[in-house]
Amino acid sequence: MSSTEDVIMVIPRELTQNPLRKIWMPCKNGLPEKHISQKRVCMTNCPTLIVTVGLPARGKTYISKKLTRYLNWIGVPTKEFNVGQYRRECVKIYKSFEFFQSACFPFVFDATNTTRERRATIMRFAEQNGYKVFFVESVCEDPSVIAENIQQVKLGSPDYTDRNTEEAIQDFMKRIKCYENNYQPLDENLDRELSYIKIMDVGQRYLVNRVLDHIQSRIVYYLMNIHITPRSIYLCRHGESDLNVRGRIGGDSGLSPRGKEFAQCLGRFIQDQNIKDLKVWTSQMKRSIQTAEALGVPYEQWKALNEIDAGVCEEMMYEEIQEHYPLEFALRDQDKYRYRYPKGESYEDLVQRLEPVIMELERQENVLVICHQAVMRCLLAYFLDKSAEELPYLKCPLHTVLKLTPVAYGCKVESIYLNVEAVNTHRDKPENVDISRLPEEALLTVPAHY
Ligand code: F6P
Repeated sequence: MSSTEDVIMVIPRELTQNPLRKIWMPCKNGLPEKHISQKRVCMTNCPTLIVTVGLPARGKTYISKKLTRYLNWIGVPTKEFNVGQYRRECVKIYKSFEFFQSACFPFVFDATNTTRERRATIMRFAEQNGYKVFFVESVCEDPSVIAENIQQVKLGSPDYTDRNTEEAIQDFMKRIKCYENNYQPLDENLDRELSYIKIMDVGQRYLVNRVLDHIQSRIVYYLMNIHITPRSIYLCRHGESDLNVRGRIGGDSGLSPRGKEFAQCLGRFIQDQNIKDLKVWTSQMKRSIQTAEALGVPYEQWKALNEIDAGVCEEMMYEEIQEHYPLEFALRDQDKYRYRYPKGESYEDLVQRLEPVIMELERQENVLVICHQAVMRCLLAYFLDKSAEELPYLKCPLHTVLKLTPVAYGCKVESIYLNVEAVNTHRDKPENVDISRLPEEALLTVPAHY
């Protein structure tokens, strides 16, 4: 070895498994420690500013809200800033479209972002703050789509509380005109340096330019899969299973007599609903497939829809888990979303596993998903925009169908109990979970794999 060569001696740090998430991390003197470079540097991506572009009533707010909900659900923390709301805060009472003719909005950033100059201002701001920018433009010339949007969401807006419908529509059309005069759509040549997706005629065509990273490609993929055709998604669990009756979690048992009765009722319910081109999806577990069999219609099995894997706790009763693995039990109560069962999964894992299901649900129209308690909670949280804290406690009782129908910016939920009794498998979050109060023996009773 020549004397000019540098010798770097790396002393491997000790690894400890995080008891909640079962992730190996370096530690020093028994405490978790980050690498010096991880302390200051953002390892993967710097924040991305997603900026909508387009005339009013082109679905920008719809896209923003939906995209924000999706990104949050997959675990990318995202916040939505609706400039219309800020404007209303500033002006308090909206008088008429003339406000939009004024040359000096009190904003640096506008949700329509229809001029190149405005977009350049945003780019400068992003550059100064170290953000990446991704533009999402919606271009739509179909008058029926625009009219539908005005009817659905604009007339209910606080701007028009005291106006009659005709007056409000007229004012809104004039508002669009104000923007049309200055509108400079993203241009293939002039804007070739920018990162963007241009959505044309509600997804008939797309133009995608300069996708810079993983997050931007996921945004593009998502936006290319969503649609606005009216439809409903029906979510339910399998019929009551033999293990449900015995108060045991997991396993792969068949249906109880009441579970079989529910499957029959579900068949009749679905028939009565007379749903156009209904697709039926199940997991690959016996109880879910047995439920679908009773419908007498074709169905598709998804491994991704299988129930949460409770690892070493599979087929145990909650009381038994508490008795045998008190620390594990308490850790789950402390952070149910992130807690991973030894040799099993967490809700956080489940969400990742279910992402392709959500993507395909976005592509489809009417679908019935016959799944499981934890899986149904994850799917429901996506549609209802529930946080990671609320998600594992959402109520998804057996023998109850939830019908989800997209409306305006959200989802209407109808809960239909099919009148067949079943055990209650829901366990509320206990108050005051405090691991430090566990008896010392509890901390020693950890599953063998540690
Ligand atoms: O009890 C039925 C069940 O589907 C189990 O298989 C699963 O482990 C459990 O529900 C998930 O619910 P929780 O996360 O509340 O324990």
